[in-house]
Amino acid sequence: MTSRTSLSSWQALLEHAENNKQVHLNQLFADDSERFDKFSIKLPNLLLDYSKNLVTEETMAKLVTLAQECDLEAWREKMFNGDKINRTEDRAVLHSALRNRAKSPFLLDGINITEQVEDTLAKMKAFSISVREGHWCGYSGKRITDIVNIGVGGSNLGPQMVTEALKQYSDNSLNVHYVSNVDGTQIADVLRPLNPEKVLFIVSSKTFTTTETMTNANTARDWLIASSFDEKAVLKHFVAVSANTENAVDFGIDQENIFDMWDWVGGRFSLWSAIGLPIALDLGFDKFIELLEGAHEMDLHFQQTSLRDNAPVILALLSVWNCTFLGAQSQAILPYDQSLHMLSAYMQQAEMESNGKSVTWDGAPVDYPTVPSIWGELGINGQHAFYQYLHQSNNVVPADFIGSVQSVTPVKGHHETLMANFFAQTQALMTGVNEAQVRADLKAKGRTDSYIDKVAPHKVHKGNRPTNTILLKRLEPKSLGSLIALYEHKIFVQGIILQICSFDQWGVELGKGLANKISEELYSGHINQDHDSSTRELIKYYQADKT
Ligand code: F6P
Repeated sequence: MTSRTSLSSWQALLEHAENNKQVHLNQLFADDSERFDKFSIKLPNLLLDYSKNLVTEETMAKLVTLAQECDLEAWREKMFNGDKINRTEDRAVLHSALRNRAKSPFLLDGINITEQVEDTLAKMKAFSISVREGHWCGYSGKRITDIVNIGVGGSNLGPQMVTEALKQYSDNSLNVHYVSNVDGTQIADVLRPLNPEKVLFIVSSKTFTTTETMTNANTARDWLIASSFDEKAVLKHFVAVSANTENAVDFGIDQENIFDMWDWVGGRFSLWSAIGLPIALDLGFDKFIELLEGAHEMDLHFQQTSLRDNAPVILALLSVWNCTFLGAQSQAILPYDQSLHMLSAYMQQAEMESNGKSVTWDGAPVDYPTVPSIWGELGINGQHAFYQYLHQSNNVVPADFIGSVQSVTPVKGHHETLMANFFAQTQALMTGVNEAQVRADLKAKGRTDSYIDKVAPHKVHKGNRPTNTILLKRLEPKSLGSLIALYEHKIFVQGIILQICSFDQWGVELGKGLANKISEELYSGHINQDHDSSTRELIKYYQADKT
């Protein structure tokens, strides 16, 4: 397979980046009063403004040509058609089928997967209603009050991020908790205040083999049995979401209470499946369906819109532009909505586990920079922590600012202050302030010349820092569904442009394997002398002093 670098559009973009090195966003805005209209997309639930990126119409045309030369449209078809585009695992990639609200039949390897999806949704509906309304009771007949979801990575981040984001829509009929860390502190903290008679555990694990999840699930089962003195209690207090029914049954979960998953759903794209059960339990099944509807709307937009007007495509092309051609190495996700406080963590897995790779589909080394590292935090908190770096460090960090027009929790004066900061930050990152302006400002404030000489260089902001702004009309199940699907498709497009297998995650295996071996050493006390001296001595130090 030929490298992307040999495409004429790639070469044209390299040249274009070189020729436009000196361009400043201020100039681009001054040159074109219609810049916002040209570089923004309005969708039913959200607005994407990407005008504060270092792009012109020529840049966008060149990026779209690159997407065309990479056969993006054909790949998009392949994904939605169920072709096995997860090549290294020989699997289809059909998270979109989980939210196909048109419910049209879809055959994959001769099986109508729409029917499977609808059956599982019906099961989730019945189950969530039964628990929420108190028909499903614990072993001693008491109503369930607390749900504990045990899972990690995609079996945790998605549902937890969404239930946090939509907290205001919960009727609080159930308390939902999450345990993901194998550090015993987390499960101990979660279980301490709970009454075992009223707790329902969901063991969420596609493989039902993940060490962290299995360790936590075993601890939860021991805790339950210790309180009820009866192993049969497990049947009424544990359900599972898994593609590995055999292991879940061996664990002690009733086959009837296992919710299916399929190999055509990747863990980090699975919140739309039964992995989203905590969402349905917390918010009610109807809200879960609204979330799916919002994602389905984005699927249709992605599938049917021309590349130039296609929000996920544009976001992906801008990321490729900023990172591969302009050299940015990280990207910040900055929500200005308290409810989205887990969004950056969610996006880290979504993008970095998908595209943080260094070989192409054919296993050849990629000879260009790929995706950035993703990081972030609630924007307002970040302003008082790391924004200094965003504004003045020598490293340019493109950032996505995400906010809402309407507050879900209006408290007088708060939303305006929040959003004033939201708008001000992208403006400041773009415009900056030059030395002459700084000097004039200090002079006007009556500062002495020597003070001005000393301080002025420190107050200069070069600006010219690219940002995207995503404004939701209001954070609600539907708009959140659209937002998540927007990023999912962005990630897919990046993978196509960069020739990366976005849907496997071999990079997590090496560490897992070594941890299993070292775990045996820690339990047995026999340290493998073949370890490198650092690892060996660290283990020895640990063994010597542990209590
Ligand atoms: O960290 C690797 C990974 O396989 C993720 O991709 C996945 O979301 C997570 O572990 C959990 O896997 P499982 O659902 O099989 O327990």
